[in-house]
Amino acid sequence: MKILVTGGLGFIGSHTTVELQNKGYEVVIIDDLSNSTEKVLDGIVAITGKKPVFEKLDLKEKSKVEDFFKRHQDIAGVIHFAASKAVGESVEKPLLYYENNIGTLVYLLKELSKKQRSSFIFSSSCTVYGQADKMPITEDAPVKAAESPYGNTKQIGEEIIQETCKVTPGINAIALRYFNPMGAHPSAEIGELPIGVPQNLVPFITQTGAGIREQISVFGGDYPTEDGTCIRDYIHVVDLAKAHVVALERLLNAKNEENYEVFNVGTGKGSSVLEAIQSFERVSGKKLNYKIVGRRPGDIMTAYADTTKANEVLGWKAESTLDEAMKSAWLWEQKIRK
Ligand code: UD1
Repeated sequence: MKILVTGGLGFIGSHTTVELQNKGYEVVIIDDLSNSTEKVLDGIVAITGKKPVFEKLDLKEKSKVEDFFKRHQDIAGVIHFAASKAVGESVEKPLLYYENNIGTLVYLLKELSKKQRSSFIFSSSCTVYGQADKMPITEDAPVKAAESPYGNTKQIGEEIIQETCKVTPGINAIALRYFNPMGAHPSAEIGELPIGVPQNLVPFITQTGAGIREQISVFGGDYPTEDGTCIRDYIHVVDLAKAHVVALERLLNAKNEENYEVFNVGTGKGSSVLEAIQSFERVSGKKLNYKIVGRRPGDIMTAYADTTKANEVLGWKAESTLDEAMKSAWLWEQKIRK
């Protein structure tokens, strides 16, 4: 069965491609290489022994998207990762984010609505909950006003899909709300490739461990949490990738109860910034040079998932511990610095 993975050379897309190929799916990747390289294909081949079809294509080019679907009429499902994801940049360049993340989603859905039946998985984010009132966060927690254009594209993206599904019964969609993806494939053949100074915690930790950064700043030590630092739900990217496969299969096998569904994808366990640093120190055997500084504007204090719905309905559960995920991130960091 042929599955289109947009952004398939990116961090989560490449790991999902591996899991799809491991289960025998034929993967076609579209990627514009704006935040990845063709070398990722070699990593995928090294793990799975199979090279996915790759087309360098910018989803903003509507006529090329139409042409792609004409050439690949047998696509049974689409997993849509391709999007811009830097929160700070989205504040500077909102229109770029709306065009990249919203325009392209509309083009894809237009193509899918021409088909009799299609299955569509959307990369959403726990960012839609903002600072939720109750922990752990369930899917019916209210969606709060977005803090950034990036966050807004995820909220609007979900709404566009939901409204499209209402009037297009042939489209079956699932939005996966990721908590904090981290780590790399345990083979260290693929992983995260942050460009420039990483904004996210784990790449900053591993780069500091590798000596690329002198010190890591812990943003805020005075939150009313157990150790004063923020709490997040860090999920191993391989677990996250597997969630995409089971979600897709729910749609391919017509097991979905509604034609638009939403699932949290996290571990259900919250870890503080200091716990993440301690995890790194445990798995690497290195002391990390860190300093507690002021809070980062826009940060929420605590977010971790209630994963009951994904556990029970999808039959999926995150398997890796924080240490296992951190170990894979560290292995990968060491490999790419060689
Ligand atoms: C961030 C984005 C979020 C996006 C997610 C995608 C912000 C405010 N939020 O979430 O919208 O969906 O990435 O991956 O940018 N930290 C440090 N020092 C660092 C880096 C991070 O202490 O150098 C802390 C942060 O304050 C936070 C935690 O580590 O408490 C995790 O940060 P990060 O990896 O950026 O993820 P989020 O803030 O959850």
